[in-house]
Amino acid sequence: MKQIIIQFGGTGDLARKKLLPAYSALLKAGYDFHIISLGRRFSDQDSYAEHIGIAEDEVLMNHLHYVPFSMEDSISKRRLTAELQDLIGEACGIELIYYIALQPSLYESAIYDIRDIHDNLEGCQLKKKIVVEKPFGFDQESAKKYNDILLSVFEDQQIYRIDHYLGKEFMQNLLVMRFYNDVIKGIWNKHYIDHIQIIFDEVYGVDQRLGFYEQIGVVRDTIQNHILQIVTHLTMGEPVDFSPQEISHEKVKVLRSIPPITDFYLAQYASLKQSKQSSAPTPTYCSFKLTVDTFDFSGIPIYVRTGKMQKEAKSMIYIAFKHFRSSPDRSRDLPENAMIITIHPEMTIDLQINMKQPGSPWESKPVRLNFDHFNTFKVNTPEAYQQILEKILLSDKSLFPSMQEIMESWNIVSPMLRSTEVEQYDDKTLPSCAVSLIEEDGRVWFE
Ligand code: BG6
Repeated sequence: MKQIIIQFGGTGDLARKKLLPAYSALLKAGYDFHIISLGRRFSDQDSYAEHIGIAEDEVLMNHLHYVPFSMEDSISKRRLTAELQDLIGEACGIELIYYIALQPSLYESAIYDIRDIHDNLEGCQLKKKIVVEKPFGFDQESAKKYNDILLSVFEDQQIYRIDHYLGKEFMQNLLVMRFYNDVIKGIWNKHYIDHIQIIFDEVYGVDQRLGFYEQIGVVRDTIQNHILQIVTHLTMGEPVDFSPQEISHEKVKVLRSIPPITDFYLAQYASLKQSKQSSAPTPTYCSFKLTVDTFDFSGIPIYVRTGKMQKEAKSMIYIAFKHFRSSPDRSRDLPENAMIITIHPEMTIDLQINMKQPGSPWESKPVRLNFDHFNTFKVNTPEAYQQILEKILLSDKSLFPSMQEIMESWNIVSPMLRSTEVEQYDDKTLPSCAVSLIEEDGRVWFE
């Protein structure tokens, strides 16, 4: 079946950095589809390709059509309809995949534009799908509104809501590690785990994405989606099977047992405030503590810190195990056992245990038992977006959050969305509020 992807937001940062490279990789891997890229900034395909840096990619260029497009503009709609009609030609059985990578305030217009365009197309056995980027809405209320609008044009089965973290190898691996290993299953609960740290520090600022980011902020950008999805993968119960429905069922149970987060701090890096005219306090960093009130996890604090403009890029999960007692003769306090899941720069999992220090009588040292994904499997797994887009082409819904997950996640972050208290932090430093969040509980961030 012929497939055509209609890319709204084709000149945006996401299209340039992630989507176009993923389309190119899929085309080179043998998939056959066309991309119609839409944008306001460029008047013709050559200047678009030149500016976006794809002019030399012959395979991609052979399948790409740039169409200048403004939302809610009848000339643009006619232009796109004509381009689509041309591509459809006389063929029978064509699937149109509308992909919205815009800020949420433009969703509504985009969906209505899509409805008008699609209704005017002529062809035999025309099928449609829609893909919507995160954040899905601004809050729970707007998410519901957008979903209702989507459902007036598409069936739920045709809607793909994106969280690219579900396409990451480490996320899928968390489930395999937890549910394919009885030893891990045995210790993955409040009897053994003391606390969990999730650290996602990024070195970059908001850069060219300022316009988008200003309206979004860190909570909508990464917490309501990526971080809460990580939490579900760490704490969900064992699904009956690995079908999308059963996995989502378990994730929703976890999300419903997380109380809205009230223990949090928001911060903004100093140079962003200096560079902006407006004084809107867009948070670029957030640290918080949450709990999952299920039988297995109640009472385990989960500390999270994530945001932009840090000295070092760091993506990791630290699982600290309980420390029941010191050495057998009670003479030494031993370092805690821990599991360290590193996601960036390489995916590794270390189990930290205490071993004998050579040449000393019963002295110990913490050492790491190490799993290195690349060295073990010798393969580079495809980029998350490539995996996600491949699933869309194949109509496989296994790597997409359900609407119920999205609604529960908005509820969990709702107190953060209402807060206007935003501390400032110097560029490339950890906000002091992030440090005090964990130190108040007598713990420190894993370094
Ligand atoms: C995106 C956010 O969804 O995820 C970005 O919009 C963030 O702000 C990015 O930098 C992080 O994703 P990754 O794949 O680079 O870890």
